[in-house]
Amino acid sequence: MVLVDRETDEPIAQVPIPVGATVYDAFERAEQRLPTRCRGSSLCGLCRVEVREGSPLPPDPPPDERALLARVAPHEPDARLACRMKLDPRDDRLVVAIDRARWQAARALDRARRG
Ligand code: FES
Repeated sequence: MVLVDRETDEPIAQVPIPVGATVYDAFERAEQRLPTRCRGSSLCGLCRVEVREGSPLPPDPPPDERALLARVAPHEPDARLACRMKLDPRDDRLVVAIDRARWQAARALDRARRG
């Protein structure tokens, strides 16, 4: 799975797709944690990404996910919670996009926590 810059589509990171994992889990397991405050509990909305490519594409978000995203990212209509999107092991070409500044801030915070 490839993570790209939301504005430029430039690749930022690439991680394997573990069977049965969420997009969030895949990055976590590869020690490339996505932005989060709730650590994958679908509460903060910080892990949001946009799906750019994939086959099969993930199903549409359920109403509670749509409600959270409308609150935290009203100007990102294609956003999805990475911690809610289950990965299909057949999909080795999934491409998701993130705001690069949020990604970099999360990476810096992770590095500071690890010392
Ligand atoms: S990690 Fe908080 S909503 Fe996904």
